[in-house]
Amino acid sequence: MDKKLKVANIGLKFGMSHVEGAMSCEDAEIAALCDNNEENLRFAGERYSIPCEKWFTDYKDIIDNKEINVVTVAVPDQLHVKISCEMLRAGKHVLCEKPLALKREDLEEIIRVSDESEAKFMVGQICRFTPAFEKAKELIESGIIGDLYYVESEYAHDYMKLVENWRADPDRHGVIGGGCHAVDLLRWLAGDPVEVFAYGTHRLLPTVPYDDATVAVMKFSDNLMGKVFVSTGCKRDYTMRTCIYGTKGTIICDNTSPTMTLFTTDEEGVVNEKPEIIDIQVNNHNAAKEFDVFADAIINNKKVVTDAREGAKTVEVCRAIVKSSECGMPVKPDYNF
Ligand SMILES: NC(=O)c1ccc[n+]([C@@H]2O[C@H](COP(=O)([O-])OP(=O)(O)OC[C@H]3O[C@@H](n4cnc5c(N)ncnc54)[C@H](O)[C@@H]3O)[C@@H](O)[C@H]2O)c1
Repeated sequence: MDKKLKVANIGLKFGMSHVEGAMSCEDAEIAALCDNNEENLRFAGERYSIPCEKWFTDYKDIIDNKEINVVTVAVPDQLHVKISCEMLRAGKHVLCEKPLALKREDLEEIIRVSDESEAKFMVGQICRFTPAFEKAKELIESGIIGDLYYVESEYAHDYMKLVENWRADPDRHGVIGGGCHAVDLLRWLAGDPVEVFAYGTHRLLPTVPYDDATVAVMKFSDNLMGKVFVSTGCKRDYTMRTCIYGTKGTIICDNTSPTMTLFTTDEEGVVNEKPEIIDIQVNNHNAAKEFDVFADAIINNKKVVTDAREGAKTVEVCRAIVKSSECGMPVKPDYNF
């Protein structure tokens, strides 16, 4: 019997990476492609040689298709929760793009619906599958850099050509839309910040209704501090430079660099003169691993790590940063979902 997961991919721009992720998974096959823009649908269908009987412009056609048991959602952020909930209610497993949602009520709804559903739900926090960031996590857990006392990450990406659409929604602040990558990375590496304080400026993207650069400092428990910098109008290549400072060493990694750097100390706590340069494939969009992890959770009934609550906590920290930059006061993220 053919036990392969039957996957429908909804939204076919960045979502083409989900098609590629599913195609590279030996336990899955593409059962449907869906995009309400016929040109984008045709482009993806032809590119991946998916027969046109499997092309759909209306995602509702996926709901009633009993053959399909897995759906990936890569539509504008404002539609994530609506489409994911409809799919979960139809019993389909859902891999949904980040950020999970933009509004608190949507975060609460997806948590409720995924709690009620037997199907698996995963938010695609893809940086957790970036080889350099996975390596950083492994090094932290090995104890080689001691206890963390400061972590920082940045999401700097020029949106100049991207903002004249759903990204210009006032609710889709750059800290939530793209900055969620850096925030989620720090949460994954260092835990949940208990308080944030942020400043923002608006210099580069005059047509968007929110700041295009924000810096936030964060207080974690256990004497740990953090910082996130988000710039959506920056004049440089896309970077997620990340530095992790521990009592016995330091890790520096950046998706624009082919290596990461590890500083360690000797028995007396003196920093070793030559840092270790770790040659590691640096790839920010490891969609193949992301899909494999999701498929494994479905097939072997494992817990999904970036489930709805985890995705919601990341958005909640981002929302706290935006609120702090607006009100000029420290804000405590509300993790009470
Ligand atoms: N993980 C990452 O690094 C990363 C990178 C880029 C985008 N994203 C996320 O992926 C999602 C899509 O972003 P994008 O850059 O591809 O946006 P986009 O606007 O370029 O493409 C969205 C696609 O969805 C289609 N679409 C819109 N509404 C639809 C509907 N109701 N039914 C079916 N198709 C519909 C559009 O026609 C379009 O083809 C967003 O949530 C974004 O935040 C994630």
